[in-house]
Amino acid sequence: MLSEGFLKLLPVYPLIAQQIIDDYHLDSGICIDIGTGPGYMGLELAKITNLEMYFLDLDKKSLQKAKENVAACELDNTVHFIEADVSALPFEDNFADFVVSRGSLWFWKDQVKGVQEIYRVLKKGGIAFIGGGLGRYTPATMRERLKGRRRLVQEKHKDVKFLDESGLRELIKESGLPGCRIVSDEGEGAGTWIEIRK
Ligand SMILES: C[S@@+](CC[C@H](N)C(=O)[O-])C[C@H]1O[C@@H](n2cnc3c(N)ncnc32)[C@H](O)[C@@H]1O
Repeated sequence: MLSEGFLKLLPVYPLIAQQIIDDYHLDSGICIDIGTGPGYMGLELAKITNLEMYFLDLDKKSLQKAKENVAACELDNTVHFIEADVSALPFEDNFADFVVSRGSLWFWKDQVKGVQEIYRVLKKGGIAFIGGGLGRYTPATMRERLKGRRRLVQEKHKDVKFLDESGLRELIKESGLPGCRIVSDEGEGAGTWIEIRK
């Protein structure tokens, strides 16, 4: 059974996946979806590419849900399910062509270590897209309807470290990584994603 939060978000994942394909022209190679939860982000990317997908989460139950959702789609892609923490990724250096992580960064105990680990496992020429939000293809009406979810999550999880654009900039600075920029769903000053190019 899906939580209401994920149900409401279902239309958004294919839109973000399409944005990623349009922006980064992915077709094949290795992709890791970090903090995959029920797997929807990686799943939507897999449906429209030949990417070899690694669905990664530190929570066993979420990963089990991701497995079920992926199985239900009968993908042709090669898929893997990895139980791990973003601060200690079980991959060699220069492993992945693309890393996506949606709605998970806020929950990481050590966000600096998390983005540094992502950089480490990216291949040279690889790209990571990390953050949260609805993507720029989500229609304004839907965006408006889904606004306020973040506040609800914040109320539920007091320890969650949501970062606004200046927080993301601070994280980039602290992590000391080159090749980073803020990507916004809605225009200047509303950035909710970090893009990393290695
Ligand atoms: C709000 S859910 C987002 C799920 C999914 N990415 C999406 O957009 O629907 C956040 C997920 O991040 C995972 N997570 C939190 N901290 C993590 C960490 N340090 N390493 C890996 N996964 C983590 C949680 O277990 C949870 O499944």
